[in-house]
Amino acid sequence: MSAQARSRRAADIEKAPLYTDNPYDHEEVDDSGKKKGHAFAYTVNGRPVLSLVMHPVLLSLATLVLFGYLNFPWPDSPLPDHVQEGIKRCEAIKAGPPNHQPNADRKTSDRFVKGTRPVWLKNGTVWTGEKRGEQVLHETSVWLEGGVIRRVGKEDGDFADLVASSKDKAEEVNLHGAWVTPGIVDLHSHLAVDPSPNLRGSDSTNSWKQAAQPWLRSLDGFNTHDQAFNLSIAGGITTMLVLPGSAGNIGGQAFTFKPRWTEENTPQSMQVEPPFVIRNGTWERTGAWRHIKHACGENPLRVYGNTRMDSAWDFRKTYDAGRKLKEKQDAWCAAPKEQKEAFPDDLQFEAVADIIRGNVKVNIHCYETVDLNDMVRISNEFQFPISSFHHAHEAYLVPDLLKQTWGGTPGVAIFANNAYRGTPYAAKILADAGLSVVHKSDHPVLDSRYLIYEAAQSHAFGLNFSEALSSVTTHSAKIAGLDHRMGYIRPGYDADVVVWDSFPLAIGATPKQTYIDGIPQIIHPHVQEKPKDAQKISPAGDYDKEVAEAVAARGDPDLRPKHKSKRVLFENVEGFYLDGFDVQGVPGRVVVDGGEITCVGKDCAVTSGEHETVDLKGGSLLPGLISTGSALGLVEIAQEESTWDGVAYDPVHEKGLLEGILVRGADGARFGGKDLLMAYREGVTTGVTWPVSGGLVAGLAYSFSTSAEHPLAKGAIGHPGPALVLTLSGWTTDMTESVSTRIALLRKMLAGEGVKGELAEAFKRAASGELRLVVQVSSADQIAALIRLKQNDAKKLKLTIFAGEEAWMLADELAKEDIGVIVANPRPFPAFWDSRRILPGPPLSNHTLPSYLASRGVTVGLGIHEECDARLARFEAAWAYTAAPHVFSKKQAVDLVSGNLEKLLGLDLKSKADTGFVAYEGDFFSFQGRVRASRAPGQEDMHLFL
Ligand SMILES: *[C@@H]1O[C@H](CO)[C@@H](O)[C@H](O)[C@H]1NC(C)=O
Ligand SMILES: *[C@@H]1O[C@H](CO)[C@@H](O)[C@H](O)[C@H]1NC(C)=O
Ligand SMILES: *[C@@H]1O[C@H](CO)[C@@H](O)[C@H](O)[C@H]1NC(C)=O
Ligand SMILES: *[C@@H]1O[C@H](CO)[C@@H](O)[C@H](O)[C@H]1NC(C)=O
Ligand SMILES: *[C@@H]1O[C@H](CO)[C@@H](O)[C@H](O)[C@H]1NC(C)=O
Repeated sequence: MSAQARSRRAADIEKAPLYTDNPYDHEEVDDSGKKKGHAFAYTVNGRPVLSLVMHPVLLSLATLVLFGYLNFPWPDSPLPDHVQEGIKRCEAIKAGPPNHQPNADRKTSDRFVKGTRPVWLKNGTVWTGEKRGEQVLHETSVWLEGGVIRRVGKEDGDFADLVASSKDKAEEVNLHGAWVTPGIVDLHSHLAVDPSPNLRGSDSTNSWKQAAQPWLRSLDGFNTHDQAFNLSIAGGITTMLVLPGSAGNIGGQAFTFKPRWTEENTPQSMQVEPPFVIRNGTWERTGAWRHIKHACGENPLRVYGNTRMDSAWDFRKTYDAGRKLKEKQDAWCAAPKEQKEAFPDDLQFEAVADIIRGNVKVNIHCYETVDLNDMVRISNEFQFPISSFHHAHEAYLVPDLLKQTWGGTPGVAIFANNAYRGTPYAAKILADAGLSVVHKSDHPVLDSRYLIYEAAQSHAFGLNFSEALSSVTTHSAKIAGLDHRMGYIRPGYDADVVVWDSFPLAIGATPKQTYIDGIPQIIHPHVQEKPKDAQKISPAGDYDKEVAEAVAARGDPDLRPKHKSKRVLFENVEGFYLDGFDVQGVPGRVVVDGGEITCVGKDCAVTSGEHETVDLKGGSLLPGLISTGSALGLVEIAQEESTWDGVAYDPVHEKGLLEGILVRGADGARFGGKDLLMAYREGVTTGVTWPVSGGLVAGLAYSFSTSAEHPLAKGAIGHPGPALVLTLSGWTTDMTESVSTRIALLRKMLAGEGVKGELAEAFKRAASGELRLVVQVSSADQIAALIRLKQNDAKKLKLTIFAGEEAWMLADELAKEDIGVIVANPRPFPAFWDSRRILPGPPLSNHTLPSYLASRGVTVGLGIHEECDARLARFEAAWAYTAAPHVFSKKQAVDLVSGNLEKLLGLDLKSKADTGFVAYEGDFFSFQGRVRASRAPGQEDMHLFL
């Protein structure tokens, strides 16, 4: 008899006890009053089915017989199919939330690939994730076998038994002290559901049908041809939670995957801890966590017209349906055998019932305080836990609110940058408030290959290294419900391990190798050996004053520089990167007076008047950096068109009054914006922006001072029209005409044919080389068309390519024609078909895109696409240097975001542009460098940030 049948029988007996106080069970007496025996009745539901009068001896015997009868394994009277089915479902429901425990003795992973050789990583600096992320084991070795980490040890002897017992000889890798961390677990990815390059046919990020669809599953849209798998692995990603997008309030269920290619080469085989599997001819629930995506705020508003009130109602309506279903199911399960109807199921709401049971990790994409508050309320109304809030730009303003979430405080998964009311200190603030902070990619919104860079930025702005490393490993693994097998370097854990070329939070830190399930993923890693300094644990930035300001201002701090001085003496100056000064060796001191550098050298002193003295602690003076490529200064909040200058007319298609007009970006210039002031705060004194347009002719670029208060302030507009900007590739908006049509139009306009007015004038100047032409283009084929155009039709053209992901394929031709490239993304990503042939950089290629172009003699600058990235210019220069010190000197790396951009944007044509200069404390080429003073274009005072 099966355990199940036994328990069913026991339940029957309970309902119909043998000796009960009922009218059919009493002492039987004869008419004389003599005891005849015991009247006994077997009852079911209180009715006698068997009635006997027995002598006590017979009675005892009969009792024994009956007992034997009841316990004899007679075949079960079969339960109806719908009851049997339902009982199975009840059991699955009863299982409750998974309670996986780590198992240090685990010797083989369920994902182990037969034939994988053991790997013996020797002499690493191992960050284990233990001791709240503070444990670092030096000169330590790690043994990977069976798809798991088998041992962490010091001496070779610690591994003797493994050496002896393993069938295949282990691959020994001498790490020479390289950093080792657990693989990165990305808590928020759309990899493979929003595949790269972006093609209509493979995009499954969102449904567009209705706002709340808990029944959808990201697994159903997981495209195995995404070019990003190997790229993400090259950044150390070993597991990702792949979520539906945020168009709807409930976008659907999410699933965990490893990006490693499998032999089966299917979505299901890439899953890790799948909540359902095909097993024995059924689609079965396993004991693993389920995951679901929710979103509130702007996206459901944009897509479904759901205001926040509508969103909240959609949630409540859906949760109410889920709760009712759960109640029905629970009632059914309380008395399965009495059920006439099948187990109450509902494919649309079963996942919500399961959320309320606590079996589903709820991941909510929310931005503002109001969104967070709505969801905390709803979690209490329906009593379900929230696993994590994602994006959550304002979470740092309301950590106590999050603690009121039903069932415990959720984690918070954020970007380090990119939010209007966000702050670079958010991670630190949240961690200090006791919340688990995670950095997530939202891939491909942010290329998950560079997720570690997010953690590193938060570290630079105050999050300590233990929390920063945990934010992409232990914390994200825990929140994803996977911390019993990943997120730590521990025996029995998945052999998902990254070996780094430097301290993982150093600028430009890059994996030398990524192991997934114990399999090395990068076949021929190109490794850049980094200097000793890059191996050190770096201190977290000390920004306590700024943190307090950000919190006190509720996310809207006054970022305008407040402190100025006409005369400043800088001490302890080690580096000096400005042209036009004869500086030998370490300058030591620098004096600035009336906006000019008046003295550089050990003996400098301020002779007259009041002054400030600033100790740069080994820092340096640099030219003010330039940011270009985004709509910085024309757009304030990208999602809000009312904060923009708007979209420029494409003069090529205009007739009448608009015929021949040339839009000048400077006419739309807006000052005082947040991204401008944040960029200024980080050393970017100058922006060069052109009108927002998807047409062939965008208009005239302009250069401006990022810190100016309005367009008429001194130095506000530097150059009103240094370059004419065109667009060839179709990645900005949908193209109105073909690329070949655009080339034809361009040829005609450069020849002065068919153009009128200012437009004709501008093209004439461009054709003669008086006005630089900047062309936004990604594809090598399209760049080739431009090269031919210059060779055949417009030899004097001064041409700059902007974006240029595929420009490396034509590096020699570009150098020969003196065509420069402003690389819009120095770490290119194959986002579009036209930009898919990237030079990925280490560890996948020896060169980075900038270093390769420069090494072939092309003038290179670094640009951006998004306004919020303007503030990162200094990190980009430092990264370019660190990744290719054999190509760029430090000065040349600084030129990538200053001098070279001046040339490539036409700012050098008449006289040298005034981009001011900036004093940094500490090492500019690390995250620890920090702006202390800045002289903006056209100003006589220095702004001090002390
Ligand atoms: C480990 O590597 C470091 C750096 O190369 C080296 O100094 C040290 O001697 C090595 N230790 C062992 C045990 O090999
Ligand atoms: C699959 O079904 C077979 C035969 O019914 C059974 O022996 C086996 O245990 C089942 N396997 C699993 C994993 O449930
Ligand atoms: C790191 O930061 C966390 C969060 O603020 C804090 O709890 C922890 O004590 C810090 N660790 C160290 C070593 O200071
Ligand atoms: C990704 O890497 C694997 C090796 O791990 C290789 O077999 C595969 O061809 C690569 N895929 C692409 C698209 O480069
Ligand atoms: C990579 O670049 C370095 C530095 O220029 C050079 O020494 C090395 O030979 C290059 N390796 C390959 C495979 O090209």
